Amino acid sequence: MIVIDGLHKSYKIRSGKKHVLKGITCTARDGEIYGLLGPNGAGKTTTLRTIATLLKPDSGTVRVDGHDVVTEGRVVRDRIGFLTGEMKLAGQLSCRELLRYFGRLNHMSAATIAKRTEELAADFDMINYLDMPIAKLSSGMTQKVGLAVSIVHEPRNIIFDEPTSSLDVLAVKVISDFLRSAKRNGKCVVLSTHVLADAQRLCDRVGIIYDGELLCEGTVDDLLSTHKVPDIETLFFSLVNKQMEQV
Ligand SMILES: Nc1ncnc2c1ncn2[C@@H]1O[C@H](COP(=O)(O)OP(=O)(O)OP(=O)(O)O)[C@@H](O)[C@H]1O
Ligand SMILES: [Mg+2]
Repeated sequence: MIVIDGLHKSYKIRSGKKHVLKGITCTARDGEIYGLLGPNGAGKTTTLRTIATLLKPDSGTVRVDGHDVVTEGRVVRDRIGFLTGEMKLAGQLSCRELLRYFGRLNHMSAATIAKRTEELAADFDMINYLDMPIAKLSSGMTQKVGLAVSIVHEPRNIIFDEPTSSLDVLAVKVISDFLRSAKRNGKCVVLSTHVLADAQRLCDRVGIIYDGELLCEGTVDDLLSTHKVPDIETLFFSLVNKQMEQV
């Protein structure tokens, strides 16, 4: 479970500070897929990088299974798998070698890594290119390798920043199937996306973030009935338009 409470974050810029997260409060529970939706620059990646212990909050707290991301970073890192488009895999190492490397970083034994490699290769249909250099793989295949690497240690919490962007329909299905099975196994899944159709299809609950603030949060069904809208896309535009009118 991931609990974010009153999260503020600024970046230092030349002219001073840019206040990017303005008091985000939300909870992603076990056995659910939580979607953080918002336009470019809204603060999605900043929020997810804070959960992943890569950024420190200015104020507010983020807890993963009850552990604080600042004071218990090591425990939190064991408990999360973080996949981001910023992680560019390339070079001569193969998927098997990368899994071995990241498995060791996660304190896994050689036998466990070997077993896990077979499982992941079967789950993601990667058996045929497990030993090919990453540089020779297509972008969809590379994305699947990134996915496998991020969850090699079987984390309880899975955090994916834009997991389906730049993928073809087949690769999107692999990721969607994986996220659904993780949820069935009781994991807590948080993903960010601006592909609203993906969010509506996959997420149990969503939070809409705009300019560093959470505009609404709830189950997809509850939000649609409360706001009397047919789909997430209509809800998104009506909330964002309201927000822009206030500025
Ligand atoms: N290292 C940084 N230094 C200064 N400003 C930053 C930095 N990283 C992000 N920002 C700014 O913070 C804001 C939020 O960025 P963030 O990457 O969290 O948004 P996002 O919702 O993930 O957007 P996108 O959909 O484009 O990925 C943006 O205005 C961005 O320009
Ligand atoms: Mg982003």
